[in-house]
Amino acid sequence: MVKVLFVCLGNICRSPTAEGVFRAVVRAQGLEEVIEIDSAGTHAYHIGEAPDARAQAAAARRGIDLSGLRGRQATRRDIESFDFILAMDRENLRHLLALSPPGQEGKIRLFLEFAPSRPEREVPDPYFGGESGFDRVLDMVEEAAVGLLEHIRHERL
Ligand code: 4NP
Repeated sequence: MVKVLFVCLGNICRSPTAEGVFRAVVRAQGLEEVIEIDSAGTHAYHIGEAPDARAQAAAARRGIDLSGLRGRQATRRDIESFDFILAMDRENLRHLLALSPPGQEGKIRLFLEFAPSRPEREVPDPYFGGESGFDRVLDMVEEAAVGLLEHIRHERL
């Protein structure tokens, strides 16, 4: 089993979007039994909440259902138990590195490292912006999800 955790600030916009998209990509390749997927936030603001309505709507337009996901906060134990911990931006990365037990930092990376053809290295926070920000998140996340699965197939499966 390879365990993948997506992390943003609130766990209601970017990381649940990444979780939903990656689940779809993994399922399309029939790998859902070997790759475990989850998401979490660095902060506690939205624990127990469903993804933001705008994130759900944008994902639904691409055939991805985020309605069953619920916000939770990332823990030190997550860093021990997951193999890939993927931060949406550098602030999330910094929080995760601070949370990490010594020696586990190598598992923590920026998600967009897996979308090398894109110029951006961070998925911008869409929370305070308009609808288009959520589509932009999806464009980035879709590309990185494919790159991540390719990486896992080559390195781990
Ligand atoms: P996320 O977006 O980190 O992509 O889930 C945000 C959600 C909530 C807040 C900020 C960003 N907030 O300030 O409550």
